Amino acid sequence: MSIKDCKIIELPKVHDPRGNLTFIEAKHISFDIQRVYYLYDVPGGSYRGAHAHKQLQQLIIAMSGSFDVVLDDGYEKECFHLNRSYYGLYVCPMMWRYLDNFSSGAVTMVLASTPYDESDYYRDYDEFLRAVKASP
Ligand code: TYD
Repeated sequence: MSIKDCKIIELPKVHDPRGNLTFIEAKHISFDIQRVYYLYDVPGGSYRGAHAHKQLQQLIIAMSGSFDVVLDDGYEKECFHLNRSYYGLYVCPMMWRYLDNFSSGAVTMVLASTPYDESDYYRDYDEFLRAVKASP
């Protein structure tokens, strides 16, 4: 997996003077959603993530506020600034991710392709790098 497989997806936006509306249908996402979780009440200066997943695919959306997602495929890093609730960042498997620079009131929603499974995680960066370098 390469960082080139990760990208910002623009979701539909229905403009309305009463407030905008965004929706997500199966056709907008390349995986079946098995889980949704969200991060909120993140203290200023804090970070989340700092791990990679063996199989899990995700779409990360800034439902409110903003934050940065740094992705690292073991060779290259890229920083994505998320600050609109109609953008989603698709994150493929085997991608070390680090989320920081959370604004006050930021809410991070994550659509995930599998239920929570601790055995799917790499939580040690060197172990992740060894796995990346060992793969063809
Ligand atoms: P973790 O994935 O490390 O959080 P983040 O990447 O957002 O910093 O998970 C933090 C804790 O929450 C960990 O103990 C596992 C638990 N957890 C669940 O029980 N279910 C879930 O769906 C997720 C994402 C985490």
